[in-house]
Amino acid sequence: MLPKIPIAHLPTPIEELPALSERLGGPRLLIKRDDQTGLAFGGNKTRKLEYLLAQAQEGGAKLLITTGAGQSNHCRQTAAAAARFGFDCALVLAGEEPEKITSNLLLDRLLGAEIVWTKPEKRDETLRAVFSQAEETGRRPFLIPYGGSSAVGASAYAFAIRELSGQLPAPPDWIVFASSSGGTQAGLVAGARLFDVKSQILGISVDEPSPVLGSRIADLTSEVTDALGEKIAFSPEEILVNDEYTGAGYGVMDKPEHEAMHLFAKTEGILLDPVYTGRAAAGLIDLVRQGFFSPEETVLFWHTGGTPALFAEKYAKIIAS
Ligand SMILES: Cc1ncc(COP(=O)(O)O)c(C=O)c1O
Repeated sequence: MLPKIPIAHLPTPIEELPALSERLGGPRLLIKRDDQTGLAFGGNKTRKLEYLLAQAQEGGAKLLITTGAGQSNHCRQTAAAAARFGFDCALVLAGEEPEKITSNLLLDRLLGAEIVWTKPEKRDETLRAVFSQAEETGRRPFLIPYGGSSAVGASAYAFAIRELSGQLPAPPDWIVFASSSGGTQAGLVAGARLFDVKSQILGISVDEPSPVLGSRIADLTSEVTDALGEKIAFSPEEILVNDEYTGAGYGVMDKPEHEAMHLFAKTEGILLDPVYTGRAAAGLIDLVRQGFFSPEETVLFWHTGGTPALFAEKYAKIIAS
């Protein structure tokens, strides 16, 4: 069994979405509330960090280093976990430092993270430099990979699907969610196989074409099963990724995300974010309208968090329109 530090409020609740289902004329809809994992506005990275921090602690690390976009949810949750468990935290953020410090970036500051800005194309180089400098100065760094998506981090979602199957009398026919670095999906697919949960696991790609993401997830899923002591080889054909909703690219909010966010908010009082869950929900809504799911099926939307991005200036204006 992998060592873990309990951080998240688990199990996260599962709720019915009857008004949304009625509005869409669709199948039974459920939602798993990983936006409520309890650490600094929650989200899917909290589960991964339970295993990654245990790994860091075992190795005697003192400084957690990770990377992401300027408004990274992963970085914000890493900064919070570091603060809570007595690590220093350095974040390598890709992009231009904005004039206004809002949302996740504001929280990174509040949580005491050291921030290093880098051009996106120099991200890995900068990360290596920050890591080496920390080693040389005796700060005992531990690298948390992009999205927390190492085999150890992703294993958290194998346990998450076991948690889900214990909460319901029967597993949902479909599990739909936002997929980006692929760790969440790899963990869910590995867990479904290892714990015999017979749901179809459909990732809505946030930014990458299905072949790229599918093959990365297949490899990572095999690594997750290996980390959990039962190596199984997965092929890309076994990984369901839909890339039809990537729109104008990462972080570009458009009409589908706007509609999905307003529908979830106005029918169920549930807040989605513009980058990940808004996009995945737009995919879910479109698939329901296309008749992709049959009326007697149950579809679970796994809410992966990200809500602080609602308050980023560039999105707030569009959301309010
Ligand atoms: C809110 C939210 N949802 C989904 C994802 C995607 O998860 P994964 O990187 O494990 O594919 C992320 C990743 O940053 C996220 O912040």
